Amino acid sequence: MSQLFRSACQFSRPFFTQDFLRPLIVSNAFSTSSSREIQNITVYGSGLMGAGIVQVAAQNGFKVTMVDIKESLIEKGINTIKTTLKKQFKDDENKQKEVIESTLSNIQTSIDISKGAKDADLIIEAIVENIQTKHDLFRNLDNIAPQSTIFASNTSSLPIIEIANATKRGDKFAGLHFFNPVPRMKLVEVIKTEKTSDETYESLMEVSKKMQKTPVTCKDTPGFIVNRLLVPYLMEAIRLYERGDATSKDIDTAMKLGAGMPMGPFELSDFVGLDTLKSIVDGWKEKKSVDANLVASCKVLDNLVREGILGRKSGEGFYKYPSK
Ligand code: 3HC
Repeated sequence: MSQLFRSACQFSRPFFTQDFLRPLIVSNAFSTSSSREIQNITVYGSGLMGAGIVQVAAQNGFKVTMVDIKESLIEKGINTIKTTLKKQFKDDENKQKEVIESTLSNIQTSIDISKGAKDADLIIEAIVENIQTKHDLFRNLDNIAPQSTIFASNTSSLPIIEIANATKRGDKFAGLHFFNPVPRMKLVEVIKTEKTSDETYESLMEVSKKMQKTPVTCKDTPGFIVNRLLVPYLMEAIRLYERGDATSKDIDTAMKLGAGMPMGPFELSDFVGLDTLKSIVDGWKEKKSVDANLVASCKVLDNLVREGILGRKSGEGFYKYPSK
């Protein structure tokens, strides 16, 4: 348990919740007729993703508890939130102060795993991508959290059902996948396993909307929607570069100016983290869960990760990032 946090087709809505019934459900902005009201959210993990999720939840009126194993990690998470909010409202000092104060007033922190679970309507896990570590956490939480608490994982690489199987609440377990940087990216993937109940699914769709995100739904398949398409694309860009067909800079320029991407594939790989990219690819390869050609090894990536050159977070990836 001690290494617990070491890390850091939209389906159409059911007919009965469509427009003609809206007047019946407006009295409760947090829930539809088939969803559970969520007020208290606990997020496990205070890394970039965890802190981002805490921020958007708190900013949108939820009471949030941020849990990690060390005070220093919690402090880093809170600083990430403050820095991001400052950046977001850099042109209006009063607004900046007001938003920081109101957001922080909705956040509690704890290094006690059980404390965050007892009053949670929803638990979102954003800890290290290790199945055993996630099992340990969720097994523990399953014994502490109320029966009604919904569990969600922000995993980008592990099957949700494999994580859910550590608990006795498969019906209250789903994936809730946010994107980096969480405060900026409008998408959330809501992942339904074969055990996830409609009530859990509806609750997570509602929570996502309340966080000002646009939810899409996907089955529990490798990479869900975004990573299933994005990761093979990033890998193919690295192979193109490895073969010497074009420079990384020209590939980035080409995809930004020719395909309208906000970042080129090398900028984006550095942004996501080269270790994260490699770990997704290796996981799929090991499980033979996608076509082998999509996850064929790439020496350039393997070597960079082995040397600890991991992208923006380590100060260097395909590009160098001078510390500010
Ligand atoms: N919160 C946190 N970071 C923010 C932010 C915010 N609200 N707004 C901007 N940033 C950060 C960027 O990371 C970068 O950091 P820096 O300050 O340390 O340099 C900086 O702000 C750059 O911001 P700019 O103002 O220069 O750039 P823009 O605001 O024009 O755009 C962007 C930034 C939104 C990140 C844009 O480039 C973009 O959309 N890029 C693509 C991002 C993407 O595809 N994300 C998904 C990755 S896949 C994923 O997350 C899935 C996972 O499972 C792997």
